[in-house]
Amino acid sequence: MFNKGGSSEERPWGKIPPSSVVFLREFAECEEEEPMLSKRVRSISPSPTLAITAKAKKMKAEGIDVIGFGAGEPDFDTPEHIKDAAKKALDDGFTKYTPASGMMELKQAICRKLKEDNKLDYELDQILISCGAKHSIFNAILTLCDKNDEVILPSPYWVSYPEMIKVAQAKPVIIKTTQENNFKITPEQLQEAISSKTKLFILNSPSNPTGMLYTRDELQRISDILAKAGIYCISDEIYEKIIYDGEEHVSIASLGPRIKQLTILINGVSKSYSMTGWRIGYAAGPRKIIQAMSNLQSHSTSNPTSISQIAAIAALQGPQETVGKRVKEFKRRRDYIVGRLNKIPGISCLKPKGAFYVFPNISQILGRSFKGQTINNSISLSQVLLSEAKVAVIPGAAFGADNHLRLSYATSQENIAKGLDRIEKLVEKIS
Ligand SMILES: Cc1ncc(COP(=O)(O)O)c(C=O)c1O
Repeated sequence: MFNKGGSSEERPWGKIPPSSVVFLREFAECEEEEPMLSKRVRSISPSPTLAITAKAKKMKAEGIDVIGFGAGEPDFDTPEHIKDAAKKALDDGFTKYTPASGMMELKQAICRKLKEDNKLDYELDQILISCGAKHSIFNAILTLCDKNDEVILPSPYWVSYPEMIKVAQAKPVIIKTTQENNFKITPEQLQEAISSKTKLFILNSPSNPTGMLYTRDELQRISDILAKAGIYCISDEIYEKIIYDGEEHVSIASLGPRIKQLTILINGVSKSYSMTGWRIGYAAGPRKIIQAMSNLQSHSTSNPTSISQIAAIAALQGPQETVGKRVKEFKRRRDYIVGRLNKIPGISCLKPKGAFYVFPNISQILGRSFKGQTINNSISLSQVLLSEAKVAVIPGAAFGADNHLRLSYATSQENIAKGLDRIEKLVEKIS
């Protein structure tokens, strides 16, 4: 890059003296040192869902025809009336800080939503608006957990929960569920997992990755145990609106005053209104916990984006027909993908009740081989699917369930059909 000698060099802005040339050369050539990262950060694993999606994107950019089943977001656009509200906010110059915990008008819209949809009464100071539901969950875990506290987490789990728990220096205590019990924990399993160190339980219904939904009765039994033991509950309800077959979504906080006092309800506009990039989520819960979470947020991100907050008001208060139409489309895709997967020898798949993922069991394929290589886990099967069939799926290992793959059907019917053809053909070749 620079000449080797100590002579000065001509640059557009003039001559660089010899001493600087030597310095610049050394600077350009020196290797980046191993940084002294904190233990906290070193304990975190990078998101495997993002990693495989990035690899598939790179292959696509290279001109390779990859079918992606990795998406964690609806493939539909944000509805027009929501975008119009944001455009108007921008034109009106609504571009300054808002209160760190979010705008009063959006909190009012959230309170109305929680009352109408979830039969829950919250005051404005019991609501925190964050930069996505993920941010609200992070705030809640950091606010509630101390070093060595135990957090009970059913598996398969959403990939970010264990990592957030580790950042808080708390300990995930995993309750394993399987396809045989519809990926739901039993009251006995929950009771058994509780110790004197248990601080928090994480509930995600409908679930990412399994799409399973707890019934009112099941939640009542879970709630009774948590209430008796005085354990907090983060109830992640981000997929609340994407449910099928006339099933009912129940907020655990609505099951009684004691469990409401222990619950931090999490929701947002990302999945229901195709607004993943806008970054608006929220938490509702006991006043003092929400205030502490707001305090934490005020020193990290401050308020979520002002324009996105206006868009979220339009989403919550505007027409809701698009949500229903999109859920119908998701249901059509779900029925198709489940039907096709169950016809592939070696794969079995439950019909999810919500969200937009299927979580097929691949245990019969594991141990077999392809081109001399043994497929011994969900990661090796995902790698073969990507390199040989040009299909991107997420290995179940990322969710704590190595006998499974996760496929998102938030992609076109045409892609789904084409991708399944490829999976079918590849699995036939695994012997
Ligand atoms: C279970 C679950 N919770 C929370 C989130 C995060 O939502 P947001 O985009 O609003 O941060 C996701 C996104 O994938 C999710 O699957």
